This record gives sequence, structure tokens and C-alpha cells, in this order.
Amino acid sequence: MNKQFGNDDPALSAYVARVYAPEDEVLREIRERSTRAGLPDIQLAALDARHLEILARACRARRAVEIGTLGGYSGVAILRGMEPDGVLDTVEIEPKHAEIARESFRKSGFTARARVHVGSAQKILPRLTRRGPFDLCFIDADKEGYPAYLDWAAGNLRPAGLVVLDNAFLFGRLAKKPKGKAAGEIAAMQKTHDMLARDGRFRATVFPTGEGLAVGVKL
Ligand code: DHB
Ligand code: MG
Repeated sequence: MNKQFGNDDPALSAYVARVYAPEDEVLREIRERSTRAGLPDIQLAALDARHLEILARACRARRAVEIGTLGGYSGVAILRGMEPDGVLDTVEIEPKHAEIARESFRKSGFTARARVHVGSAQKILPRLTRRGPFDLCFIDADKEGYPAYLDWAAGNLRPAGLVVLDNAFLFGRLAKKPKGKAAGEIAAMQKTHDMLARDGRFRATVFPTGEGLAVGVKL
């Protein structure tokens, strides 16, 4: 039987959170310090952070790129899943967010393996190409940029490398007709899914987490 996405019984997510404990002290400290510093409370859900760690671990990632560092919450999750010598290049447009993230990488012992690049992805990504091909690319930045970021990932992942995208449900707006204030974001996210699903460069799916976590394997 094909059930709907999600499940509205909060006991299930509470159970999984209790048993798998996806947010440990280190991640909790990052989230709380980010909030105190005035960062928007939009970091990855704790269980999606665990998903990210598991995906990095499963593909034995040694080189990874993250687009949208924020306070470093997801970056720490990626680095935890990476091989011991793995390096994460993470791109952040806001200098203040990047400073918080650097502190997060320092506190979690990842300073030597996290390179924080401050600037627009449009400017930084072409410079990262020479460090590739990459094992994993995580996209969690401005939603209108997703098609371009996915295109970059398609060109810079190794065969069987993973692209992972947060907010694949676009806060519940994904299936709506692109109009009004959110038209640009809706059109961009729909284009992203079209690319992932059928432009021939990936075999992909959407894991129905709270925000929707899209995952594609590079062909
Ligand atoms: C927003 C962005 C995100 O990446 C997210 O996970 C949640 C919210 C936002 O821009 O509002
Ligand atoms: Mg996000």
C-alpha cells in the first residue's frame, strides 16, 4: 500500500528522536550559540543532519562541498560521516554566519578539515572545481539558486557521488502553481526536481522527511 508522505502522529518522531538521539551536545551547542548570535533558526532538522552524516559515511566521502554553511550545524554532521582525512569545502554568503561556523568547526575538532569560503556560490563554486571531483555535495542555500547549484554538482561529482538537497518540499509550496511572491522559488524548485528526476545525470529520490530531503546518485 502506498501511504501518504509523513505521518501526523507526533509519537513516532518523538520515538525516533529518543532512540536515535540525532542531536548530541555538540550539535545542540551549535544550534543554541547560533540562535544567541541572531542567526535565523533555519538549520537542518536534527534527524536530517543524521541522514546527512549517514549518507557521507555510506559513500565514504573524502571530498565534500556544502552550499549554505549557516552556523556549521550541517557541516559538522557531514564531517562526522566523512573519512578521517576528508575535507569539506563549505560556502557561505554572510560573513557573520561564517564566523559562527568557524567557531563550530573549532569546537567540534574539525578546523583542519573544514574550509569556509565567504562569498556567493556563483563566485566561489568555479574556484572549487579544481579540488574535485567530489564524493558529496549538499545544497541548502537560496532556493532560486538550486538549479544552478545542482548543475554544478552534476559536473563536479564523481560517478556514484551524492547530491543532497534540503527543503525539497519548499516549505509545503512545491506542488503549487508558481505565482505571487514565491513564484521564483517555486519555479526554481520544480525545475530542480525535473533535472534530478529526468535529465539523465542522476538517479534520484526524495526522502519524505519534515522538509523533504532530495538525494541523487550521479550516473
Ligand atoms: C529557510 C531556509 C532553509 O534552508 C531552511 O531549511 C528553512 C528555512 C528560509 O530561508 O526561510
Ligand atoms: Mg534548509
